[in-house]
Amino acid sequence: MSSSGEAELLHTFKGIPFTTRSSPELLKSLDTFDAREDDVLLVSYPKSGTHWLAGVIAKLYNTQVTITSPIEFGDISRLEELNKLSSKRIIPTHLDYNMLPPNFKKKKCKMIYISRNPKDTAVSMFHYYRDNPNLPTVDTWTAFFDLFLKGNVVCGSWFDHFLSWEEHEDENNILFLFYEDMKKDLPKVVKEITLFLSLNVSDNDIQDICRKSSFSEMKNDAEKENSDPSHTVCALTSNRKLIFRKG
Ligand code: A3P
Repeated sequence: MSSSGEAELLHTFKGIPFTTRSSPELLKSLDTFDAREDDVLLVSYPKSGTHWLAGVIAKLYNTQVTITSPIEFGDISRLEELNKLSSKRIIPTHLDYNMLPPNFKKKKCKMIYISRNPKDTAVSMFHYYRDNPNLPTVDTWTAFFDLFLKGNVVCGSWFDHFLSWEEHEDENNILFLFYEDMKKDLPKVVKEITLFLSLNVSDNDIQDICRKSSFSEMKNDAEKENSDPSHTVCALTSNRKLIFRKG
């Protein structure tokens, strides 16, 4: 990794590397963030299928909901924008459990954690480091893998992140999902999500949503879209074209 790149693009907060797209002031103020009882959090370590899950969830609601930008994305003014939203908020985040604003825990907000086999996550992240100008450059897979194992990558250690959430797996307001299960049987996982979110969606609609959420459909949609920097579900990029790599 080039050290000048790292110095410019990353900073560390509470021992975890963040990109400069997450300002230190915003990270500091998360502790006092005001959660609402009906907020839903979409939680993931980067490259675990965040956009896939968000794409599915966006299609499940027939009432007014907003998938916001990640809670850790931007400068402090973003929190003000989130506070002002009048619709129900679906909030993505890559934060580990310990850094999550305490009000989400106190109010027992629903949280969906999506996880992916760490080997595939590491490979996906390696390509992301190479393609995403918001991340430092990496020279080789071996060098990147070493950083990944040590947790010296953006969002820190996969292992610490997963373990911090796994400890809370049995809490009623947390649903644990796996990317691999979504690959194997998406309708089954989508059904599970609807039950968790208490949404009434017919089996036919679930089938339709799954068709529209296939890798090829989502990749196609992303290629047609223009990137809007204020529309991002991952704090690491607003460019959806970088997301749909191989699936
Ligand atoms: P690969 O790089 O292995 O292809 P995230 O959204 O958390 O950044 O995760 C991105 C990963 O999810 C990428 O993995 C991407 O291709 C994959 N992905 C995105 N949409 C998908 C879909 N509809 N089906 C399967 N995989 C998908």
